Amino acid sequence: MTESWATFGADLHLDLSAGRGLRAGLVDALREAARSGRLAPGTRLPSSRSFAADLGIARNTVAEAYAELVAEGWLTARQGSGTRVAERARPRRPAGAARVRRPERRRPSYNLLPGTPDLGGFPRAAWLTAARRALTDAPNDAFGYAADARGRVELREALAGYLARARGVYADPERIVLCAGFVHAVTLLAGVLRARRVREVAVEGYSLDLHRELLTGAGLRTRPLPVDASGARTPDLSAESGAVLLTPAHQFPTGAALTPARRAAAVDWARTTGGLILEDDYDGEFRYDRQSVGALQGLDPDRVVYLGTASKSLAPGLRMGWMVVPPGLLDEVVAAKGRIDWTSSALDQLTLAEFIRSGAYDRHVRGMRLRYRRRRDELVAAVSGRVAVSGIAAGLHAVLDLPAGTQASVLRAAAWQDLALETLSRYTHPEAGLPPREALVVGYGTPSTSAWSPTLAALLSALP
Ligand SMILES: Cc1ncc(COP(=O)(O)O)c(C=O)c1O
Repeated sequence: MTESWATFGADLHLDLSAGRGLRAGLVDALREAARSGRLAPGTRLPSSRSFAADLGIARNTVAEAYAELVAEGWLTARQGSGTRVAERARPRRPAGAARVRRPERRRPSYNLLPGTPDLGGFPRAAWLTAARRALTDAPNDAFGYAADARGRVELREALAGYLARARGVYADPERIVLCAGFVHAVTLLAGVLRARRVREVAVEGYSLDLHRELLTGAGLRTRPLPVDASGARTPDLSAESGAVLLTPAHQFPTGAALTPARRAAAVDWARTTGGLILEDDYDGEFRYDRQSVGALQGLDPDRVVYLGTASKSLAPGLRMGWMVVPPGLLDEVVAAKGRIDWTSSALDQLTLAEFIRSGAYDRHVRGMRLRYRRRRDELVAAVSGRVAVSGIAAGLHAVLDLPAGTQASVLRAAAWQDLALETLSRYTHPEAGLPPREALVVGYGTPSTSAWSPTLAALLSALP
């Protein structure tokens, strides 16, 4: 099983958007994959049921596509051994094929890069139901230019209820500003801080370079805070920093939870210096060993900007995020966003509002929590005795500490299998002065359900 999946790959990378109809598109893509050798002869294809689930199409469509390719001779189907690429489907390489350059952003066969949820888990049917309802009920003004830069009040109200209930946030719909994901929120806040003549923002010593660059792009300096098993060392916050960007629920990427003492130190710093805390609650819903700890914002809603996103709980492609803004900052944030809401689709906002109100969001998060929790448990069990897993049982990624001197060979072994992995060092702030740590940040949320087992197998064979 593992062997056939290994050649099949974690993902077929089929582009079904060619406009020829789903079945014809699938037949073309599979035929081309067999013809080019991307699917080697003998490779076992997934069952029509799981493949259909991954692609979000009807099982019959896959079954018919398989049948057509069996008839053409590209596939074989035998009782007990499933559907495979026919032995005679040897790739015919055009002369000079070896010199053909691969596309720059080729997707890997196995993908454990952190940052993406299981996109196959997007709740298409429930989202469609919410979208239909939202569209039916939408007032005419939803189709016009949005008069309120904060975004649709229906979504702000739905979020206020949800955030208070699920994340312990003090969330008045009046102080919620909708935005196109966390990146958009930070871009707006960076501009506001700079306009307030803030020069420096403290960030976690391990953090996303993209987020740091948004701050430096606005003319702000970033000062790295050391990070340990209790999260960012907030007692080290300096009076020179005008704000701090933190991931309190689940430090990205080390996986620590900010301890109560460190939370208190952050709030004390904000109160004594007048600084602002920017709380990135990117995966706060996903905690597996206990109920999620409430948001830091609950401790001092006047000093904390709470930042949430649908990118982990639903899908990054939605580009939907939200801020709960302290009263003293609201006008500046709204002004930074523009006179009207240029950035988000009103229909998507109304759909998400309906999705939350109907309980579908809670149901979806519960289902995904179970899925990710199982994967994390399997990962921890599979690597036990070989590498150490650090960080709390939460989120969509885990840190694997490697034995000293083995990281380079692990990466080589991964590359050999076309397994995409990220190292912890990739997230180090250049001025953090952190001791080198050989570790991987494994995004176990990334593969689709059918790809998960073979991807885990690929990881295991790369580990020391
Ligand atoms: C630490 C962290 N914060 C926030 C986000 C969400 O970003 P956005 O909402 O812009 O997709 C991510 C996504 O990968 C993340 O890793």
